[in-house]
Amino acid sequence: GFYSFSPIQSRLERSSFGIAFDIDGVVLRGHRPIGGSSKALKRLYADSTSSGTLKVPFLFLTNGGGTPESKRAIELSELLGVNVLPSQVVQGHSSFRSLLNSFENELIIATGKGQPALVMSEYGFKKVFSLDEYASFFENIDPVSQYKNWTSQQAFDSTCNPEKLMRKQSVLSERVKAAFVVSDPVDWGRDIQVLCDVLRSGGLPGQENGNQVPLYFAADDFEYQAAFPLKRLGIGAFKIALESIFNRIHHRPLEYVSYGKPNPLVFKNVETVLRQILSSHCDDHFVNKEDVEFNGFRTFYMIGDNPVVDIKGAREAGRPWFSILTRTGVFRGEENHVEFPADLVVNTVEEAVEYILESEC
Ligand code: G3P
Ligand code: MG
Repeated sequence: GFYSFSPIQSRLERSSFGIAFDIDGVVLRGHRPIGGSSKALKRLYADSTSSGTLKVPFLFLTNGGGTPESKRAIELSELLGVNVLPSQVVQGHSSFRSLLNSFENELIIATGKGQPALVMSEYGFKKVFSLDEYASFFENIDPVSQYKNWTSQQAFDSTCNPEKLMRKQSVLSERVKAAFVVSDPVDWGRDIQVLCDVLRSGGLPGQENGNQVPLYFAADDFEYQAAFPLKRLGIGAFKIALESIFNRIHHRPLEYVSYGKPNPLVFKNVETVLRQILSSHCDDHFVNKEDVEFNGFRTFYMIGDNPVVDIKGAREAGRPWFSILTRTGVFRGEENHVEFPADLVVNTVEEAVEYILESEC
């Protein structure tokens, strides 16, 4: 009965809740919508074309990334058939914004699939190089690069393009002040080699040991659900590989900070973002904004597929978070997860949204 206008409307006015949707394994598998996600999301819009105004404040909370939030919002809109706003996209690397104060004008490098340097420069970092480009400035830094046909263009560009040559000269003697793993690394071997060079030397590859450069991971997922039937190794697996190698070649163990779920800071940030979405994009007919501003949200729902990431995070964030585990991704169990049980286990995201609207409205 969610669509009928009255008396549901007045009951909705008393409700104050927001929803955070995980992406991989909940609303998408690769680029394919799953679990009735598109239909479920459409129920959260105030208009029949799902073009903008919301009945329910919601956002996407993913540990994936590699694309600026503005671009990811367009991609999601096209795949899911609803109008997703950039403010509704919180990715693993979105937390890197909080490091702007420390590194805004410093030389930093960023790696991972997609456009890691663009992601960082959109956050305001002024002197960011992709690890791809940075590595191309150092001849023979990757001893097997000639066997990788995809790297030859980058190497060629940096020797023949005058603009790149200038960029190269300007950074060769400058220390890298921080390294960021923005999304799933593409070339683990090259990235581990170059990160070890940068980190161990204090930011000057080719030099002897120095103090370790700060290292930040956008997420720590050991595995995640992509298009392949079995789970795929994620950033967390890459971190283990890097760490075990680094610890063999450096006198001090690798230090790093991982953002993304289940980091409690991420959930705190989402609460703030949901409040902003409520005040700027929700229809007054459906939500009582003053009530939320005054009393806060009564419930935050996290719908995820990964118990050790999504459910653990929501549990640690505490009430009023309520966790819902779907069976469309990493978790496939009959019962609840043993170590990090969700408040509710359902088959699909569509069932999760049905449950939420039934209990709230
Ligand atoms: O790299 C892991 C990432 O793809 C997981 O994404 O949406 O399940 O948090 P998500
Ligand atoms: Mg997931």
